[in-house]
Amino acid sequence: MLCSDKVKRDVLIDVRNATRVYTMGARTLYALRDVSVEIERGEFVAVVGPSGSGKSTLLNLVGGIDKPTNGEVWVDGTQLDAMDENALAKFRRNHIGIVFQFFQLLPTLTALENVSLPMELRGDERKYRRARAQEMLTRVGLGARMMQLPSELSGGEQQRVAIARALVNDPPLLLADEPTGNLDSANAEGIVTLLRELADAGKTILLITHEANLARAAHRTILMRDGEIAGQPFPIGAREN
Ligand SMILES: Nc1ncnc2c1ncn2[C@@H]1O[C@H](COP(=O)(O)OP(=O)(O)OP(=O)(O)O)[C@@H](O)[C@H]1O
Ligand SMILES: [Mg+2]
Repeated sequence: MLCSDKVKRDVLIDVRNATRVYTMGARTLYALRDVSVEIERGEFVAVVGPSGSGKSTLLNLVGGIDKPTNGEVWVDGTQLDAMDENALAKFRRNHIGIVFQFFQLLPTLTALENVSLPMELRGDERKYRRARAQEMLTRVGLGARMMQLPSELSGGEQQRVAIARALVNDPPLLLADEPTGNLDSANAEGIVTLLRELADAGKTILLITHEANLARAAHRTILMRDGEIAGQPFPIGAREN
């Protein structure tokens, strides 16, 4: 079809009948079973569900960190599961930012240097890197903390640095796997508010969270259970505008 619904709707993430199987000896475990999800550009989607339900597996497929055993994963019009590692690494650098529960900042680098790293990998000029890293840190509320080491920052501040780093190359997509799992509730709220602001500014965001009250900040929620999508409990008037 030349003019399909998908073109009109501008689907950024398109997971088609994805299955991810782990085999351990004689045992076969379906981490994901025939999952299909479409997420449009600019959507903020929260993934919730019990431990072991396949949330991280789904996020890792979308992030090009892992490949499905069956099915296809498309991001921004590119079929990730068909790419080799080099092509994937390059694609990720420009299209996908990822943040995790344990921040994963380099401990010997300042906030500014941590945020500069993805631009260094891309070969950007030093002067541009510095200005751009400052811009991103200011945007996440850390304009006054740029020269600190991670150990000199609070958990919430460290996660802000990680988000600035994930977005510094301006990818259309941000993936966040329990980014508030290691934060107290006030800092967790702050991070989710920041994610919401980024979504309102046009980023597409896939957030995994255990906490229903945080999921409420998203436009839509996907509930997973036993490797399958069990439902979409929100929106049910969840979004207050
Ligand atoms: N590398 C692996 N080898 C074998 N089994 C795995 C592997 N990674 C994940 N699994 C299994 O796949 C299932 C889904 O795991 P996944 O990490 O996606 O769950 P999750 O929903 O993210 O859980 P949590 O909330 O605890 O992070 C689980 O049963 C898990 O044990
Ligand atoms: Mg997980």
